Amino acid sequence: MRILAVETSCDDSAVALLENSSVIAERIYSQSIHSNHGGVVPELASRQHIETLPGLVREVLSESGIEALREVDVFAATAGPGLVGSLLVGLSWTKAAAFASGKPFLGINHLSAHLHTHYTGSDSVEFPAVALLVSGGHTCIFSMKSWTQAFLLGSTRDDAAGEAFDKTAKLAGLGYPGGEALERAAVDGNPDNVSLPSPLSDPTLPEFSFSGLKTAVRLQWESGADLADLAASFQKVVVNILVSKLLFQAVRSGAVSVLAAGGVTANTLLRTRLREECTKHGISLFLPEKKYTMDNAVMVGRAAFAVLHDDPSSCSSLSCNAFSRWSGSILRALCCT
Ligand code: KG4
Ligand code: ZN
Repeated sequence: MRILAVETSCDDSAVALLENSSVIAERIYSQSIHSNHGGVVPELASRQHIETLPGLVREVLSESGIEALREVDVFAATAGPGLVGSLLVGLSWTKAAAFASGKPFLGINHLSAHLHTHYTGSDSVEFPAVALLVSGGHTCIFSMKSWTQAFLLGSTRDDAAGEAFDKTAKLAGLGYPGGEALERAAVDGNPDNVSLPSPLSDPTLPEFSFSGLKTAVRLQWESGADLADLAASFQKVVVNILVSKLLFQAVRSGAVSVLAAGGVTANTLLRTRLREECTKHGISLFLPEKKYTMDNAVMVGRAAFAVLHDDPSSCSSLSCNAFSRWSGSILRALCCT
């Protein structure tokens, strides 16, 4: 089954062609215009998706040896959550392509897509599992009984972990998005030289709060803390909180697999700590390749494949709309049935 997948939920335009869950060709364009603004400017992001998307699609089709859209079997695009203006670009383009070629369209949930980075077939992951989704917009823990049964255990009460990285980096003049730069700054630092609070750190509570850290970081920065030490301390606090809560839920629920996904899983300390803890508890760990930690279209295509594997007649209505927020307790990959 050939799936053409499109992702435009924020500031990355991404297109991929998959044969079932295998990647045939993919392109990502990460917008740089926002770096001068200290955050993503929604209208600029939408406009840039409009300009970029057709070229990416052309390149992916040409690399895949596909001459006409009707050679694609299924079209899938992220419907939300995300920036509505950005989502509408990818969603509208993909629905139009599906309509013109008479093929099914699938609107995909972005959070579920991140988890499906790890979907390479129905038996790719053993269940029960717990999953950590940790990005610029979300910090959630899910309990998964199967690919189609993901239940929210808890999420952040305020800032997402990636957002906390970005705000700390911005304060230190490291630009936007700042997670990677902050990690680099932390390499030479000693986390024990700067004391920061660990908000809501009780491992038994599957909820997070990172906004209070912001104030503590600012106070330390204003009183002259060394950047490397501050970055190292901040990173250690956030990673400790993420890992301890995730592993508590994994052990409590008898999970045999732990899945991690989202931009913050690019962080080396987080990856190392997850490997150590999962090894210690005899749990299989699924970490994305670094290039798939960020937003990408391969995860959207894999989510679409998983949906069709479960029910080959699945599809979304062509009136499927974009949405900015996801709330609920059961996470489903398919939107707008
Ligand atoms: O999943 P993603 O690409 O987009 C969203 O859906 O939000 O995640 C982006 C987030 C940003 O907040 C960025 O600072 C963070 O992931 N990030 C990192 C690292 N690389 C990216 N955070 C910590 N350490 C990193 N190495
Ligand atoms: Zn994302």
